[in-house]
Amino acid sequence: MDTMKWEDGRLLLLDQTRLPGCAEYICCEDHGTVAEAIKRLSVRGAPAIGAAAAYGLVLGAMKLDCRDHGEFIAGVEKVAGFLSGTRPTAVNLNWALERMLDSIRSAAPARPEDLIDIMLREAEVIYREDLEGNRKMGEHGLELIPEGARILTHCNAGSLATAGYGTALGVIRAAHEAGRRVSVYADETRPLLQGARLTCWEMVQEGIPVTLITDNMAGYLMFRGMVDLVVVGSDRIASNGDVANKIGTYGVAVLAREHGVPFYVAAPFSTIDIRLGSGLEIPIEERNPDEVTHIGGVRMAPEGVGVWNPAFDVTPAGLVSAIITERGILRAPYEKAIRAMY
Ligand code: MRU
Repeated sequence: MDTMKWEDGRLLLLDQTRLPGCAEYICCEDHGTVAEAIKRLSVRGAPAIGAAAAYGLVLGAMKLDCRDHGEFIAGVEKVAGFLSGTRPTAVNLNWALERMLDSIRSAAPARPEDLIDIMLREAEVIYREDLEGNRKMGEHGLELIPEGARILTHCNAGSLATAGYGTALGVIRAAHEAGRRVSVYADETRPLLQGARLTCWEMVQEGIPVTLITDNMAGYLMFRGMVDLVVVGSDRIASNGDVANKIGTYGVAVLAREHGVPFYVAAPFSTIDIRLGSGLEIPIEERNPDEVTHIGGVRMAPEGVGVWNPAFDVTPAGLVSAIITERGILRAPYEKAIRAMY
């Protein structure tokens, strides 16, 4: 199923909070509905958030009542500021919004309706490039995935987290399509179970063998020699190769190092934030305590308990065996490799 669709001047977002039980689209006619969907994680995953925000900006622009180019740009910048505040960690969000703003800032003076057309075309290009980039990432990643590989992944970096095909799951898909008999272990990924709900759903649909484990089983799985490699996605990569991804990724990387298992990250180049010297500068979102005290709306912990709920963590570059991008594979020293590929 498509993660998102633009139809008749509206954005349809597959509501990922309801998967796998129910596959329904949310209809967004204004940027406020898109912002709510991003905050609620109805649309989630760094590249998907970026693409949804780009279309959200078009919706916001369509509602502006402006006469000239300058007034229009000021209005769109305000909407972009609003969308940008929805989730802080995934750099793809601001990357996409900036790219959208650039498309109209660099346009010749034009009527608002023509500028909206330019924005819509740019949003479509962002979407399409993401899809194409993921397929290329899959091709590059093939050299790292041996026949019969048993692959552990964390969270969901699949079709649902992108414009399609996926980053980490895209690499797995490419190996499967190339005829390598790969199998997947999916960490359930507490607190919101993106691994259990979304990664397993995608793998089952694709016919790729998948085994679900709870997050605390990964260490024993590696100890028993049952994992050949790890591949995960990312929300932001600093210029030194430090990687922010779903909370729990760091623990998986430490376990992988201890057991001699390669730890790969698959992400588009837009996830690299060249402005940041290290992962310490990456803003980490903290979410509602209810996500930890409750599972599926049912309270699991007593009232009054203190909760810490960071949504992401940072894996130091030293634990990352390679970063797979649509432009090729990056290896340490990352600072140099990233600059060379820029
Ligand atoms: O909170 P989420 O579900 O948006 O977190 C998603 C992840 O951490 C993904 O691994 C990451 O965004 C990469 S998606 C290609």
